[in-house]
Amino acid sequence: MSDTFDELWADLAPLGRHRSTGGYRRYSWTGADTQVRDWFGAAATARGLSVETDRNGNLWAWWGRPGPGAVVTGSHLDSVPDGGAFDGPLGVVSALAAVDELQRRGLRPAVPLAVTVFVEEEGARFGVPCLGSRLITGAIAPDRARELTDADGVTWAAAMTDAGLDSDRIGPDPDRLAQIAVFVELHVEQGRALVHQDAPVGVASSIWPHGRWRLDFSGQADHAGTTLLADRNDPMLPFAETVLAARSAARAHDAVATIGKVHVAPNGTNAIPSRVRAWLDARAPDEAALRAVVAGVDAAARDASAAHGVALSSYQESFSPVVDFSTALRDRLAALVGGDRPVPILPTGAGHDAGVLATAVPTAMLFVRNPTGVSHAPEEHADAADCHAGVAALADTLAELTGA
Ligand code: GLV
Ligand code: MN
Ligand code: MN
Ligand code: MN
Repeated sequence: MSDTFDELWADLAPLGRHRSTGGYRRYSWTGADTQVRDWFGAAATARGLSVETDRNGNLWAWWGRPGPGAVVTGSHLDSVPDGGAFDGPLGVVSALAAVDELQRRGLRPAVPLAVTVFVEEEGARFGVPCLGSRLITGAIAPDRARELTDADGVTWAAAMTDAGLDSDRIGPDPDRLAQIAVFVELHVEQGRALVHQDAPVGVASSIWPHGRWRLDFSGQADHAGTTLLADRNDPMLPFAETVLAARSAARAHDAVATIGKVHVAPNGTNAIPSRVRAWLDARAPDEAALRAVVAGVDAAARDASAAHGVALSSYQESFSPVVDFSTALRDRLAALVGGDRPVPILPTGAGHDAGVLATAVPTAMLFVRNPTGVSHAPEEHADAADCHAGVAALADTLAELTGA
C-alpha cells in the first residue's frame, strides 16, 4: 500500500512546482492545472476507475457505476501562490492509494465509490475559495461565478472555455448531490494539534466561519518629490492603519485576520499611489465574533481614509458560515481509525470543500499530522509514515462505509 502512495506522490510532485521558490503554482485552468488534471485522469484510469468531468469542471473517478448511495472521497489539486505540496494533493493521492488498498485486500464496495478533485478550492486565481463545490451546492450563483476575473481580467467563463469546457452549463447539480450518501475528505493538518497530541491522524469536528473582503483605497497619484505632505491624498496611509487595525480587532475577539494580498497602482517608487487594493481574510470561532472583527476593520479603514482625504469602497467577496460536521459520522470514524487509542477530534480555521458539501450531504474529514505545523507555504509537510497511516485510516473508513 505504501508503495503505491509513494509512487503516486513521486509522479505528482514535480508538476507545477516553481523552480526557484520550491512552492507550487497550480492555478485553475492554467497549464499546470491541465498537467495535474491529466495526471489524475491517467492514475484513475490505470486503476480501472471511469473518469468524468462534471458540469462545473470537477473530476470524478468512479469505481462501479455512478448511482445512489455513493461514498465519495477526495480533495483538490490547485494551490495558493507558492503553496506546499500537501494541501489538497494529500487527500487526492491518499484516496487513490486507498482504492489500491481495498483492491489489494480483495474487497469490492457494495455501493458506488468515487474519488473527486474539486476545482479552484483555494480561490487563488478567481478569488472565491471552494468554487467547484460552491457551484455544485448552489452556494454561488452561476452568473456570478462566470464573471469572476483573475488578475489579468480573464473571466472564469473564458478560462474554462479555453480549457475546453462549456461554461454555459455551470451551476447547481442536485442530481449528483442526491447520489452521494457520504463525503470524506482527508487533508494535511494546517496547525500543530496532532503534533502536541502525538497522533498521526485526527478527525475534524468543525470549521470556523470565515470570509474574504476587498478594500479599495482611492487617492491621487502625484510626484513623490514635489508634492508637499499636506497636499497629498495618499491611499497607502489609511491602508497601513487598516493592517494594524485588523490585528487589533482580531486580538479583541480571539479571532484571526490577515491582509496577505495587496495591489498598488501605479506601483512606482517615485509616485504617490493612486489606489491600494487590499484583501482581508478573517476567521473566528463564531459568526458574531467574525462580524465584529470585520465591522471593526471597516470602521478603522473608513476613519483613516477620511482623515487622509482618500475614498474607500469595500466588498464581501466570499463568506463561509460555521460548519459542524455530523457528530454521528465523526464518532464512527474516530472509533474506526483510532484502534485502542482515542483519536484527536479537532476544529480548524481552514476552509475545505468538505465544509461546503456538509450543507448538502453527511460529511467528515480526516487530518494527517504536519510536523512543521506550517501550511500555504513550501515548509508544509507530512512524514511518509504518517501519510501511510492516513491511507490506512481512509481505506478502513471506505471499506466500512461502502460495506466492502
Ligand atoms: C483554504 O485553504 C483556506 O482555508 O483559505
Ligand atoms: Mn486544502
Ligand atoms: Mn489551502
Ligand atoms: Mn482549504
